[in-house]
Amino acid sequence: MPLPDGPKSPKIWQMLHWITMPFSFMRSCHNRYGDCFTAGIGHKFSPVVFFSNPQALQVILTNDDSELFDSPGELNAPFEPLLGTQSVIGLSGDRHRRMRQLLMPPVHGERMRSYGQLILNITEEVMSERLGGKTFSVRQSMQRISMRVILRAVFGLNKGTRYQCLERLLGAMLDRMSNPLSVSLLYFPMLRQDFGPLSPWGRFVRIRQQVDQLIHDEIAERRSHPDAARNDIMTLLMSARDEAGEALTDAELRDELMTLLLAGHETTATALTWALYWIHKFPTVRKQLLKELQPLNGSLDPSVLFRLPYLNAVCCETLRIYPVGMLTFSRVTKSRVELMGCSLEPGTVVVGCIYWAHRRKDVYPDPEEFRPERFLERRYSPFEYLPFGGGIRRCIGMAFAQFEMKLVISGILSNFELALADSRSVRPVRRGLTAGPSPFRMLQKEA
Ligand code: HEM
Repeated sequence: MPLPDGPKSPKIWQMLHWITMPFSFMRSCHNRYGDCFTAGIGHKFSPVVFFSNPQALQVILTNDDSELFDSPGELNAPFEPLLGTQSVIGLSGDRHRRMRQLLMPPVHGERMRSYGQLILNITEEVMSERLGGKTFSVRQSMQRISMRVILRAVFGLNKGTRYQCLERLLGAMLDRMSNPLSVSLLYFPMLRQDFGPLSPWGRFVRIRQQVDQLIHDEIAERRSHPDAARNDIMTLLMSARDEAGEALTDAELRDELMTLLLAGHETTATALTWALYWIHKFPTVRKQLLKELQPLNGSLDPSVLFRLPYLNAVCCETLRIYPVGMLTFSRVTKSRVELMGCSLEPGTVVVGCIYWAHRRKDVYPDPEEFRPERFLERRYSPFEYLPFGGGIRRCIGMAFAQFEMKLVISGILSNFELALADSRSVRPVRRGLTAGPSPFRMLQKEA
C-alpha cells in the first residue's frame, strides 16, 4: 500500500474542517480509516500522514535526523509570521541544532529552578487581584500568570512602561490569532493582505511592529548598558557563544525571544486552564491534591513541589486527555520507509498524532476518563505518552512547563478556594495553532 487511506472530500474542505474543528476532524478520520490516515492539510493542501501507533512513533521519532527521516523547518511555515524566519522552529540541520544548544540551558536545571520563587510570587500576585465572591475568566488569569512568568524570566523585565506594553501587546497579538478566521491567515499566505489597521492582517502586522520595536529597544539598551549581575534568559542568550565562538545577531535574538515568549506562554496557560478545570470538576482530585500539600504547612518549596507524585500525575493526565499540541511538528521521509504496512516514498510528510496516541484503549483503559491514578500505576513509554513530542524537535520548554504547572497549581490550591462558576460542560476547541478548553469561569470564594 503506498499511502494510508484518508478522506476523499475536496482538500479545501479538509483544511477548513481541520482549522475550525480539529478534534472532530481527527475523530472522523480515525473512526473511518483507523490508526494511520492521510489528510490534505499540508503546505498547499499536500498530503500529510498521521501516525498514532507507539511502534510507528518510535520509528519516526528515533530516526528524525537519520537517512530515514528529516525534520525540516520549512514545514513549520505557519509559525513564521508570528516567530520570524530565524526562529528555532523554522530552522533545519546544523543551524537548528546550534540554536537548540543555545536555548536549552536557560530553561533547564539550576537556571530553571532559580525561577521557582518568582513563579510562586506571580501566582499569588495575579490570584490576589481576583475579587472574592466574583467570577473570573480562568484563561485570562492563567495567561496573565504565564505571561508574567515568561516576561520576567525571559526578559528579566519587571515593572515599567516597556514591560506593561509588551504584556498588553503580546496578549492582543495572541488573542487576534486565536480564532479560526485568523488561523486561516497563518495557513493561507494569500489571505495575508494588509487593507489598513482595521483589516485582520493589517491589525496583526501593526501590533507585531510595535512588539518588534519594544524588543529591539530592549536589546539595544542591554548592549549599551551590560549588567553582569542579571541572570534572565535574554542576558544568557546575549552572552552565549556557539561552538565557533559566534554570538546571536539581533535578528536571531528577536526571533528566539519571540519564540520563547509565544511558545512558552500560550501553551502553559492552556495546560493550567485545563488543570484547574479538571481539579475542580472532580472534588476527589482536589481533595487528594490538598492532602498531598497539607504536610508542607504552606511552606511551598519549589524543589519539594516538583517531586510530589499525585501533583505530577494530575499534570500528566491533564496533558494526556487533551494535549495542547495535538500533533508533533512534521517530519519527512528521506528514503523509502516501510511503516505499518505502508511503503512511504521519499518526500512523504508524516506527523505524530499526539491526540490519538493518548487515546489508545490498549494503552489507556477508559481513555475518555480523567484519571490521574493511571500515572501512579504504570510508566508509559515516550512513544505512548508524548505531550511534548520527541526526537530532535522535542519541546525545549518541557521541563520549564512542567515546573511552572506544578508550582502554579500548588500556589493556587494552597492559598485560594475556587469553584467552577457553573456546571456547563467545557469542550476542547482550537486556539491559534494549538488547542485548549472552551471559555469558562470560576469563582473565588470569599475569605
Ligand atoms: C504545557 C506546555 C507545552 C506543551 C504541551 C508543548 C508542546 C510542544 C510540542 C508538542 C512541540 C513539538 C515537538 C515535536 O515536534 O516533536 C514543542 C516544541 C517546542 N516548544 Fe513546547 N510545549 C510547551 C511549553 C513550552 C515552553 C514553556 C517553551 C519555552 C520556554 C516551549 C518552546 C518550544 C520550542 C522552542 C519548540 C520547538 C523545538 C524545535 O523546533 O526544535 N514550549 N512543544
